[in-house]
Amino acid sequence: MDIATTPTTPEGNPEIADAAPTPHDPPVIRREDYAPFAWAVPTTRLDFRLAPDATRVTATLDVERNPAADPSPELRLNGDSLTAESVTVDGAPATWRMDGPDLIVTLPGERHSVEIVTIIDPSANTQLMGLYASNGMLCTQCESEGFRRITFFPDRPDVLSTYAVRMEGDKAAFPILLCNGNRVAEGDNGDGTHWAEWHDPWPKPSYLFALVAGDLVANSKPFTTVSGRKVECNVWVRAEDLARTDHALESLHRSMKWDEEVFGREYDLDLYNIVAVSDFNMGAMENKGLNVFNTKYVLADPDTATDADFDAVEGVIAHEYFHNWSGNRITCRDWFQLSLKEGFTVLRDQMFSQDMRGEAVKRIEDVRILRAAQFPEDAGPLAHPIRPDSYREISNFYTATVYNKGAEVIRMMRSMVGETRFRAGTDLYFDRHDGEAATCEDFVRAIEDGAGVDLGQFRLWYSQAGTPRIAVSQMVEGDTLKLTLKQTVPATPGQPDKQPMPIPLKVAVHSRSGALGAEQLIVLDSAEQTFDLPLAGPDPVVSINRGFTAPVVIERSLSREDLVFLAAHDDDPFARSEALQELGVAHLVGAARGTLSAEEQADGEAAIIAAFRASLADAALDDAMRGELLVLPSETYLFEAMATGTQLADPGAIHTAREGLKAAIATALAGELQAAHARTSAIPLDDPAGRGARKVKTLVLGLIAAADPATAASLAAAQYDAADNMTGRQGALMVLCSLDVPEREARLAAFYERYKDNALVIDKWFTLQALSFHPDVIAHVRKLAEHPDFTIRNPNRVRSLHMAFAGNPKGFHKADGEGYRMVADVILALDPINPQTAARFVPALGRWRRIEPGRAALMKAELERILASGNLSRDTFEQVSRSLE
Ligand code: PHE
Ligand code: ZN
Repeated sequence: MDIATTPTTPEGNPEIADAAPTPHDPPVIRREDYAPFAWAVPTTRLDFRLAPDATRVTATLDVERNPAADPSPELRLNGDSLTAESVTVDGAPATWRMDGPDLIVTLPGERHSVEIVTIIDPSANTQLMGLYASNGMLCTQCESEGFRRITFFPDRPDVLSTYAVRMEGDKAAFPILLCNGNRVAEGDNGDGTHWAEWHDPWPKPSYLFALVAGDLVANSKPFTTVSGRKVECNVWVRAEDLARTDHALESLHRSMKWDEEVFGREYDLDLYNIVAVSDFNMGAMENKGLNVFNTKYVLADPDTATDADFDAVEGVIAHEYFHNWSGNRITCRDWFQLSLKEGFTVLRDQMFSQDMRGEAVKRIEDVRILRAAQFPEDAGPLAHPIRPDSYREISNFYTATVYNKGAEVIRMMRSMVGETRFRAGTDLYFDRHDGEAATCEDFVRAIEDGAGVDLGQFRLWYSQAGTPRIAVSQMVEGDTLKLTLKQTVPATPGQPDKQPMPIPLKVAVHSRSGALGAEQLIVLDSAEQTFDLPLAGPDPVVSINRGFTAPVVIERSLSREDLVFLAAHDDDPFARSEALQELGVAHLVGAARGTLSAEEQADGEAAIIAAFRASLADAALDDAMRGELLVLPSETYLFEAMATGTQLADPGAIHTAREGLKAAIATALAGELQAAHARTSAIPLDDPAGRGARKVKTLVLGLIAAADPATAASLAAAQYDAADNMTGRQGALMVLCSLDVPEREARLAAFYERYKDNALVIDKWFTLQALSFHPDVIAHVRKLAEHPDFTIRNPNRVRSLHMAFAGNPKGFHKADGEGYRMVADVILALDPINPQTAARFVPALGRWRRIEPGRAALMKAELERILASGNLSRDTFEQVSRSLE
């Protein structure tokens, strides 16, 4: 049976809309093969006759020989599923041929004008790359290689061109016509159609091109830049969403101001447009002057968005805005350099959010994300350096490694040279490479030159994959502490042997007497090194990797008493939460491995309970920080900690151990937890302390549920019924979803009824059920996949149900393999429709090698079944085959 064409969705048999037949073994592209393009394209003119199922595109490229490249009589223009209606050179019929998907034009001279006509069908574009239809509007997504689905073009980031665009279409269907840059002319044809002309003065690569045509309204507010330029800022949405756009617009203004102040970067056009679309493969896209956003990262109000959603909107708006300099003004030479723009821009958005919302809590959140998403990637079959050496499909390299570890690597540079010198380095980078397509090496050299630092050995962070592990030992000698650190960088696919890397670590040596040591930065740059550190008093306790200066795993066995001391007294709030995590990990991994004696089990629990009691009682903590301290290590993180060396992870045992610990905490602290729930419930929505309170409220509810489901259910139902905001409502529903109680169904139904017209909130409704620890979660997910509101064609929806389920440690890892089978079926059904999104499900199954043998065999069998189905996209083929190697 060919599963790829088996009807598994309400729409029935998913027809293969526009997928060209893919070679079974797609070629490998290598970084070392980079060569500049033979032709420059100083200007590009595009003319769009828009229609949902047949848009006619006329592209005129002025090309001239690139003196820096090997001369070639041919111009290779990339295409993907395109046919040329006509090709002319300098107004006359041209000599051209197809080479696979690409078009090759013979050009005799130094300089030519090449005109190509293509006709594309946006309504059939289910991949959401190129020009596609979403909710009646037309929009584009070109990064990385989507422009070649619009017209034939040198679709590579080092070909920069100035674009002039004319678009024409039905006025009723597309009253708003947007493109990059400035609108220079518009007109009405008087026959129901109208047109607009746009010009973008900044040369750009094709991946930054964007066009939007639709029935949209804007929330507008001008921003005046530091030099007095007035910028019209618009957030474009469908009329019914307008009331939920203020937060996005305000976030944009805050980002513009912050980038002027912190990085000295000013905006460079008179117009900044953001458009929200509901069908989008990723979070958002930084197209020059015309960002296209997933609605999820634009729309927010307290009734429909949680506090975390508000933060995510602010962070993504900032991220895309910051790309205007780190990405657009300076772009990437080739896609291997992706971290040049993404790592740096993630760092910039993290710094911005730390400044907006508080440094420690944001840092704890970012480290949690890194450990949940990047550490597993770095330890598995898909591990790659932040600057990869090869790929088959670049879409597969928009990873936590390139983005989040990329940000950590630049953050380390900043920690080593300090804020002021780092700024000198980034100033030099922006200055030196403005208008260029640059490399990671260019960035490192600019930091070296601008900040005055030698990053010779540090470059290993760009070339070596794998999370370094640092073994710690210590000895007291007189009034110094001798701290010995040994680093190992684990082998990763294609990289069996690693060199030691420079690892900056902020450390402090505290004393159990209560005296706190001063913080200092040490840099471990060989395999083993001993550092002499001053003692602050007797019984030293080392606080290490404070603020998470380096993305590494610290291996040490501090006594429980020392960890409890750090959790209560460290002056670095990050280190406090870290100590609690360490305490939790040590206990839970021991419990999951079954190596704890009854006494150790009891002592471990008692220490964690004492630490939780202290966090609940500590009047000096605000609830935002208290909330962080009450989060137990996630099952994914425990999975990583359990699967070290030759040891394997047992997801079932981890789940049981973690739930057991929650129950023990909740039994011991029943009174405190209920008091905390009552206290935080009394804090009103708009109180400045409200955010932290809402976080604590739901966390304690989740703990109570582990020991006393009936009490938790009635508290959760009351919290739900009383909620005047989405954070409280979703939190209550989340707790109810994992319980087998009568309150559950009624609240789920009420939630659905209340929000059935709001797609983003219905996504939450799917996710809450897919993530639950309810014993019937798999049956629930199967049933939800048949719900009339489910469609596999909308990425947000399939992520809200199936991607969430793939991250449900209990359901996905059900011992009989049913969870694995369901995810494999989704990959097979989705691959012909949207390969990019389908391939994103593969890593969950790819973790099989580090899992106990029973589940590992079941996961591997699913990967093999996917591979055997044949005719996979390049995206899915690459991920599955790497996962089986
Ligand atoms: N460049 C986008 C960002 O990081 C992400 C993206 C990649 C969006 C590919 C769409 C397609 O902001
Ligand atoms: Zn980005």
